[in-house]
Amino acid sequence: MIARTREEIEPVLAKYYDALAQFMVGLAEIPEHAVILEAGCGDGALTTHLSHLLQESRILCYDLYRGVYERDLNTLKERALNISIIKGDVRDMCIHTGSVDFIVSNELLCDLSRNDTQKTINEFHRILREGGTFVHGCLSPYPETRAQELVIIADAYSADPLFDHDWFSPPADELAGVLHSAGFSGITVEYFLTPVKLSGDAALCHLKEWVLKPEFFEDYSAEINCCGVEYPVEQVVSCQK
Ligand SMILES: C[S@@+](CC[C@H](N)C(=O)[O-])C[C@H]1O[C@@H](n2cnc3c(N)ncnc32)[C@H](O)[C@@H]1O
Repeated sequence: MIARTREEIEPVLAKYYDALAQFMVGLAEIPEHAVILEAGCGDGALTTHLSHLLQESRILCYDLYRGVYERDLNTLKERALNISIIKGDVRDMCIHTGSVDFIVSNELLCDLSRNDTQKTINEFHRILREGGTFVHGCLSPYPETRAQELVIIADAYSADPLFDHDWFSPPADELAGVLHSAGFSGITVEYFLTPVKLSGDAALCHLKEWVLKPEFFEDYSAEINCCGVEYPVEQVVSCQK
């Protein structure tokens, strides 16, 4: 999937999230009328597709909506989806123990430190019912190409990160260890290999949405104009309580 102009960015990302939602839902056995939690749902880029796939379920969308992400709450509301929005912190959740059938999250743990990741995963384990599934997706921290490496470098130039975090994203092996110590079993990693590539104008335009320090653009714009950027492979980790 390649976006070459700024107009092509939105449809390319929509296709990506649609395919990712199908991939993630395919990893879980979701009962009828399930209670589903999307943690760190942001502006609803994935939620839109989850809600179309899971129309019989009750979807709770949980997010802090602070700092650079504050404005995403309005975008989610404007999508007018059949969901319930909860504003709160995933490290300490106001959700009953054992009350959720399926938890899904995408690019959430990349925003947290290692300690906060363990706290969050412990919370997910608490609120899931016995036999429930958790699926988490995040871009691999290991680039295969320079265009992928530029995405990882860009992230390190965040002008206003929400929390101090130690990584671009948790490596799948390390995340498996965190899940295991929280009590999860059946831990597997799958790779979602549908790449998003952005060239020239589209690449710079997309990265400007990320609220990066100006130094990033001073140092890397010429290179990005020349080779574009590409999302690294998405690691999708799933497990059961
Ligand atoms: C990189 S965005 C990903 C958004 C969305 N999942 C997606 O794939 O487009 C990370 C999201 O996690 C949320 N988030 C980060 N830390 C959080 C916390 N401690 N509690 C709740 N939400 C949090 C942010 O507000 C943001 O919406």
